[in-house]
Amino acid sequence: MLLVGVAGCGKSTFAARWFVETEVVSSDRCRALICDDPGDQSVTADAFSLLRTLIDRRLRHRRLTVVDATNVKRRDRRRVIGIAEAHGVPAVAVVLDLPLDVCRERDIARPHPVGPEVQDRQFRDLVRTRGQLDDEGYVRVHHITDPDELVTRPVVRVPVDGPAAEA
Ligand SMILES: Nc1ncnc2c1ncn2[C@@H]1O[C@H](COP(=O)(O)OP(=O)(O)OP(=O)(O)O)[C@@H](O)[C@H]1O
Ligand SMILES: [Mg+2]
Repeated sequence: MLLVGVAGCGKSTFAARWFVETEVVSSDRCRALICDDPGDQSVTADAFSLLRTLIDRRLRHRRLTVVDATNVKRRDRRRVIGIAEAHGVPAVAVVLDLPLDVCRERDIARPHPVGPEVQDRQFRDLVRTRGQLDDEGYVRVHHITDPDELVTRPVVRVPVDGPAAEA
């Protein structure tokens, strides 16, 4: 399950709300595992290499895997979907397509905001993403535009080996 959304939109909060901690693999967590700082952008290449390794190993063992990264760039999504395809497991996208001002407010309120420049750039990528997802090979794309829906709408699990469940 690929989470897609700009920094501060609530991906990690959503993942923590609905999934067991070990089901969630996170680019920030991988950064922290490598250099003790989840915000250190200088280790991005190694962090994503580690992230892809974790995804690969979990899917090898057919474990539900939630990918907590911004995933707003097609190239980044492609690399993750490629791993799912290699293991023959379905990929689902959950797009946290919340208004930019909601993401701003949430970002400003946190201890280490990424700031509006980063969010603006990622939001432009997200807008592009809206038109790209249909042919990327997901069995389902969930498009969430209502901030409340993230906490109120129950998540239905998609069995890794079975057909996609309706949600
Ligand atoms: N549904 C929600 N309602 C209110 N506040 C929320 C909600 N979801 C997240 N937040 C708040 O928004 C801030 C950002 O959330 P979170 O860290 O989950 O975002 P993120 O998408 O994982 O960001 P990043 O890409 O930087 O990791 C946090 O302070 C969090 O408490
Ligand atoms: Mg996060």
